[in-house]
Amino acid sequence: MLPQDRLIVALDVDTLDEARRLVEPLSGRVGMFKVGLQLYHSVGSEAIDLIHRMGGRVFADFKFHDIPNTAAQAARAVTRRGVAMFNLHAAGGREMLSAAVRASREEAVALGQASPLCLAVTVLTSLDERVLRQEVGITKPLERVVVDWAVLAREAGVDGVVASPWEIKAIRAACGQEFAIVTPGVRPAGSRQDDQRRVMTPAEALRAGATYIVVGRPITAAPDPREAVERLLEEG
Ligand code: C5P
Repeated sequence: MLPQDRLIVALDVDTLDEARRLVEPLSGRVGMFKVGLQLYHSVGSEAIDLIHRMGGRVFADFKFHDIPNTAAQAARAVTRRGVAMFNLHAAGGREMLSAAVRASREEAVALGQASPLCLAVTVLTSLDERVLRQEVGITKPLERVVVDWAVLAREAGVDGVVASPWEIKAIRAACGQEFAIVTPGVRPAGSRQDDQRRVMTPAEALRAGATYIVVGRPITAAPDPREAVERLLEEG
């Protein structure tokens, strides 16, 4: 069984109606809904408010990457929205990461609410070692970069990382049991991979050490999303 609070559903849709069609039946059965740039820039913060009104929790997947002061103010603003989780790029460096974490915690305390989990994005899974070397100028092996950035994030006070299922073991070994690992690229056994390449099933990802798994299309494109969730929870 996959505990339902470990499942995050990616709401990669354009309209509030589509979001509502998913949030309504699922809000009691999943841990969080991920609001990314597509939905946010289509309907604005109404997406977050809709999920909260329906009793759901929000992962704000906005991947902040800016100078420390700007990232910190963005972290404050997203914390004021009452989200349960948000993220930023580890590539922004230690000062940016710690400024954002500090600002978010201060804001949560000032509002008397729980601090959202703050996650770092390490190397985007769309990049490979060749691109990293030739286009970005990073010459270390990819897994080394992922683990080094995860360690940097942890030292800066960040609560966890977003990572591909294939990186979980190395991150867990370097960052310990308390560090959160949120992993997309998860597909139920026997389902379509879509454009995801190196996938794992929910059970495999949990066994490898994932804290949360993010699933989009296998749920959002299913004829009956609620049933797709029930199957996934059972299978995991
Ligand atoms: O539909 P699917 O299950 O592939 O959706 C996965 C979600 O996780 C999407 O919102 C995608 O942008 C996100 N994601 C990912 N791989 C990453 C980081 C985020 O698939 N490395």
